[in-house]
Amino acid sequence: MSETVIEVRDLVKTYDRVNVVDHVDLDVGAGDVFSLLGPNGAGKTTTVEILECIRDASAGSISILGLDISRKKDIKNAIGVMPQSFNSFERLTVRESILYFAGMFKCKVDADELIASVRLEEKRDVQFGKLSGGLKQRVGIAISLVNDPDIVFLDEPSTGLDPSARRDVWEVIRQLKKKGKTVFLTTHYMEEAELLSDEVNIMNRGKVICSGSPLQVVSQHGASSTALVRGGGEYALNCMQSRFPGVILEGDDVRVTLDNGKNLVEIIRMLDDSQVRYEEITVKRPSLEDVFIKLTGESYGGGE
Ligand SMILES: Nc1ncnc2c1ncn2[C@@H]1O[C@H](COP(=O)(O)OP(=O)(O)OP(=O)(O)O)[C@@H](O)[C@H]1O
Ligand SMILES: [Mg+2]
Repeated sequence: MSETVIEVRDLVKTYDRVNVVDHVDLDVGAGDVFSLLGPNGAGKTTTVEILECIRDASAGSISILGLDISRKKDIKNAIGVMPQSFNSFERLTVRESILYFAGMFKCKVDADELIASVRLEEKRDVQFGKLSGGLKQRVGIAISLVNDPDIVFLDEPSTGLDPSARRDVWEVIRQLKKKGKTVFLTTHYMEEAELLSDEVNIMNRGKVICSGSPLQVVSQHGASSTALVRGGGEYALNCMQSRFPGVILEGDDVRVTLDNGKNLVEIIRMLDDSQVRYEEITVKRPSLEDVFIKLTGESYGGGE
């Protein structure tokens, strides 16, 4: 277990008598990618901005890199921040943007090295306003690194990006982890959290409803894996119904819940014995998204 660099206990933030952050505990390990997941209005940004010393908590205790949250100046020097919906000055080039923010934080930076770290060498002298959404986000990440922070907070770095631009942002996040930075990420995208994170916390209506590594969360709360017999139709349904009462027909496909994968062989044998024709069998293991739907009863709406 790595050293804890962010420790949050019983954090509450109240607006208009509602706890938008409602008794939250968080533990973030050094060098980890930690993801706070949740739908719109869950309380992610409020939580993150309290940790970034931008807003004050209503109650609770927070320690960042061993510093109590009251030591705002020291904490701000040790963290990097990319806010949700990050923007820079339209007319400043990528390089000028980085130098401008570095100057604001009174940091001496090697702008070209930072530009290379987010792979924007070719856009170095292009105005911020002329960049695509994904490239703008990468400028935002570069700016969050001007003070060479130990912890980087990225609030929804990939929201609104197309799948390819999103993957480029993921690669930049992987590189941050390689350099030993702790990354505190918020995201709507379950797939992103599952791929990148050492630890995920799912937040809903101000509360953390589950936490652990993506694998732990899925195995603790996830439904079972399912097998889909594509093109099996009524024949496959009839053949399996007596043995698997939960089997369902979806168009021309048949879906059956697996008992930890143990009965997959049995299913194939049954189909074979009855000479049922089908196109293929695919197995889907439960995902974080399934966990979210199971725990909240809500469709997530954060996927692509
Ligand atoms: N300054 C504020 N004053 C009043 N209410 C606020 C304030 N900031 C946030 N809220 C409310 O707190 C709740 C949580 O908002 P927050 O922005 O933290 O959610 P979020 O999880 O970041 O959502 P999103 O995914 O849309 O960014 C929302 O209901 C929001 O309206
Ligand atoms: Mg937010």
